[in-house]
Amino acid sequence: MTHKRKKIGVIGAGFVGSTAAHWAAQKELGDVVLLDINEGAAKGKALDLFESSPVEQFDSHVTGTANYADLTDADVIILTAGIPRKPGMSRDDLLATNAKIVKTCCEGIKQYAPNSVVIVVSNPLDAMCTVAKQVLGFPRERVIGMAGILDSARYRSFIAEALDVSVKDVQGFTLGGHGDTMVPMPRYTFVGGIPLAELLPQDKIDAIVQRAVNGGAEIVKLLQTGSAYYAPSASAVQMAEAILKDQKRILPCAAELNGEYGMKGLFIGVLCKLGGKGVEQVMELKLNDSERAGLEKSAGAVRELVEALKKLQY
Ligand code: LAC
Repeated sequence: MTHKRKKIGVIGAGFVGSTAAHWAAQKELGDVVLLDINEGAAKGKALDLFESSPVEQFDSHVTGTANYADLTDADVIILTAGIPRKPGMSRDDLLATNAKIVKTCCEGIKQYAPNSVVIVVSNPLDAMCTVAKQVLGFPRERVIGMAGILDSARYRSFIAEALDVSVKDVQGFTLGGHGDTMVPMPRYTFVGGIPLAELLPQDKIDAIVQRAVNGGAEIVKLLQTGSAYYAPSASAVQMAEAILKDQKRILPCAAELNGEYGMKGLFIGVLCKLGGKGVEQVMELKLNDSERAGLEKSAGAVRELVEALKKLQY
C-alpha cells in the first residue's frame, strides 16, 4: 500500500524559509522541498535538516533544489523569497525589488503546482500578495498572506509578559496591513476569557499595542543585518498546518477582500477560517468607530503601495 505524504514547498532558503522548513519538518506536516536560486544553500540546508531527523525523530523528508519542477504537486507553498529590510528601512522600501522576485517565483509555482495553496511571506506583505494573485491567477481562497499571526504573536507575547501569565491563555489579534498602520484589537483581546481592559490600565495597553506595531522594526534594529525569522516562520507554518490538516482555524491572515468591510480586490489582514481549501471564510467583525477608522487608514496605506506597484516595471 502506498501512502502519499503531503508536500510543502518552501521558496527562499534564507532565514525565514529555512526556519519554516525546520518547523514544518519537525511537526511532520509532510515532506518539505526547499527551493532557492542559490542551489547549494537550498541543498545544504535541506540535507542538514534531514540529517537531524533521526535525532529529533521526525519522518519528514527534506530536499533542496533550484528547480521549480521539484515543486510538482505541492499541496502548500510558503513563499519567503525576497530581500529583507535593513535598519532604517520601511517594508515599503522593498517594493520594486521584491515584486520582481515574487513574480518570478509565482510563474514557477503556476507552472508546477497549480493546485497549491500559496502562503505569501515576502514584504511589503499586502502588496506582494497582490503581485502573487495577479501572476498566479488562483482564486482568492488559495493566495494568502502571512502577517496577522506574526503581529498578533508579538502583541500576545507582550501581554503575557506584562501580566506574568501563560502565552497560551492570551487570545487576541490584529487587523489591517502588515505595516505601521496595523490595527491591534484590544477590545477583542482576552486572557483566560477575561477582557484585557479588566486586567491592564489603558496606558499599558497602548504601550503594548505600540510595541507590537513596531515589533518588526525592533528586531531589525537589534539584528542590524536582517529581519525577524523565528516568529515569522512559525506563523507561516501555523497557516500551512491549518490548511494541510483542514483544521478550519480562525486566524488573522491577509486575504483579498470581496466586499467585506466595504472593500473589494484589496489584500489586507482580516480574520479568516483556514482549512483544506485555504481561506474558507473571511469573518467580518462589527467594528467601533475608531477600529473602523484604523482599518480604513491601513487600507489606504496598502492602496498607495498597490498604486505604486502599477507604475513599476516588474
Ligand atoms: C517582520 C517582518 C518579517 O515583521 O515583516 O518582522
